[in-house]
Amino acid sequence: MELKWNDAEKLTEWYEKNHRTLPWRENRDPYRIWVSEIMLQQTRIEAVLIKYQIFMQELPDIASLAKVEDDKLMRLWEGLGYYSRARNLKKCAQVIMQDHGGEMPHTYEQLVRLPGIGPYTAGAIASIAFNEAVPAVDGNVLRILARYCLVEDDIRSAETKKILQDALLPVYAHDGVRPRSLNQGLMELGQLVCVPNGAPFCAQCPLAENCQAYAQGRTQDIPFRSALHARRQQERTLFILRDGKRFLLHKRADNGLLAGLYEFAGIDGHLSEEDVRKKMEEKQIAVWHLKRLPDAKHIFSHIEWHMQAWEIRTDELRNLDLPEDYTAYTKEEMALAAIPSAFKTYIDYYGLRSH
Ligand code: ADE
Repeated sequence: MELKWNDAEKLTEWYEKNHRTLPWRENRDPYRIWVSEIMLQQTRIEAVLIKYQIFMQELPDIASLAKVEDDKLMRLWEGLGYYSRARNLKKCAQVIMQDHGGEMPHTYEQLVRLPGIGPYTAGAIASIAFNEAVPAVDGNVLRILARYCLVEDDIRSAETKKILQDALLPVYAHDGVRPRSLNQGLMELGQLVCVPNGAPFCAQCPLAENCQAYAQGRTQDIPFRSALHARRQQERTLFILRDGKRFLLHKRADNGLLAGLYEFAGIDGHLSEEDVRKKMEEKQIAVWHLKRLPDAKHIFSHIEWHMQAWEIRTDELRNLDLPEDYTAYTKEEMALAAIPSAFKTYIDYYGLRSH
């Protein structure tokens, strides 16, 4: 079972007529397309839009990305999650500066050899920026093809992905193929029409005529996707230390979860009020007021944090003998530190962010 050429053509035309105006579609600058693809990989379009515009203003080209300071890069990525994507972008920009004279390579084969650029991203850049006839297969495309071809196997498995990709490939060899529109048509269809949760909007779909899941009323149970492993549950206690003017922030280690980002001080486990006081005594921190803040939960890909938080009013923070990964910041200074969304409850509580 393959995607019929006639349907590929219908989808291409559908995209050309109906596509949304999005900031990375303003021109064909491969840098802009690359950054958009990386941002969109694990993050919804609505969350990306504003962040993308600011990122492009601050880092308008590969050269500026290659030399941006890590703290600034993290601040620009704040709220998008999976921060290693941003670090890999910078690394890759440095390689492009060194090995490609600062210019994004133009072909799939060269792109896929760059660090952090896999087959999907290479296919997306090569087709969207350079109109090369290569596919860009992500979860959206797999879902569309699984429905169209009535493939009932687990779309998480490598074999199923291969079967689905093979169903798509022949259309790229066709004379009339317009890869730029076809690939973006698949992305657009997956986001707006052939949607994952709930019923897809088959009445609007240019592929409906030959879609087998549609014909058999199976669009709700295809694709089949096996469950992920359960996330590890972790209890955390946050100590939000503040004096009259400043908050204490901790810079996380350079590896592991939320590497290099800023957070409120914290430890694993949940503590009673008495334990919190004891902990502060151990650290020789005077507790003037102690207040329990609302609890919060944050879900990462492999772990869930169940947070309890305590506001601790103390002496002038700058007089404390702090380890070097702890710093006392005013609200204004905190505007420059990347604080991940995991702490959003407390950031909002103190009104520490305007966007
Ligand atoms: N998702 C991934 N890439 C995209 C793109 N270029 N446009 C819209 N949504 C996308």
